[in-house]
Amino acid sequence: MCDHCGCREYPPIAELTADHVVILELAGRLAADAEAGRHVDVEARDRLLPLLRSHAAKEELGLYALLIAQGEAEEGAYDHLEGEHREVIDAIEAGRFGHLEHYALQRHIEEEEEGLFTRSTFWFDGDTWDRMTEAHRRVDAAT
Ligand SMILES: [Fe+2]
Ligand SMILES: [Fe+2]
Repeated sequence: MCDHCGCREYPPIAELTADHVVILELAGRLAADAEAGRHVDVEARDRLLPLLRSHAAKEELGLYALLIAQGEAEEGAYDHLEGEHREVIDAIEAGRFGHLEHYALQRHIEEEEEGLFTRSTFWFDGDTWDRMTEAHRRVDAAT
């Protein structure tokens, strides 16, 4: 994952990576409960949904948009990732988040960490990191 590429040294990337750890832990609890036929863990769900919404907004307004603006990705290159954000949130809201959805979320996060995070640390400069940080703070202020 990100332990070898140094991207944790970039604060906005470190922030998204820290979110991923919490998101996967909470999502894992929901998936395990669903597979075991237990009642949904309301505390986990109610922490996860707002975190997912703000995390997705940060990526869509920050990381994805900046990689496209920098010319490092084509317009629309991350539409599938944005669609996956909606799918994960919809599945949790509908109470149908099981192992398959958890695997899909793991793949989504792996694509971001192995692909987009690494690309951003290679191509972004100080100005781009500032714009990414501003995008994150705008999302925090709105949520
Ligand atoms: Fe994402
Ligand atoms: Fe993410």
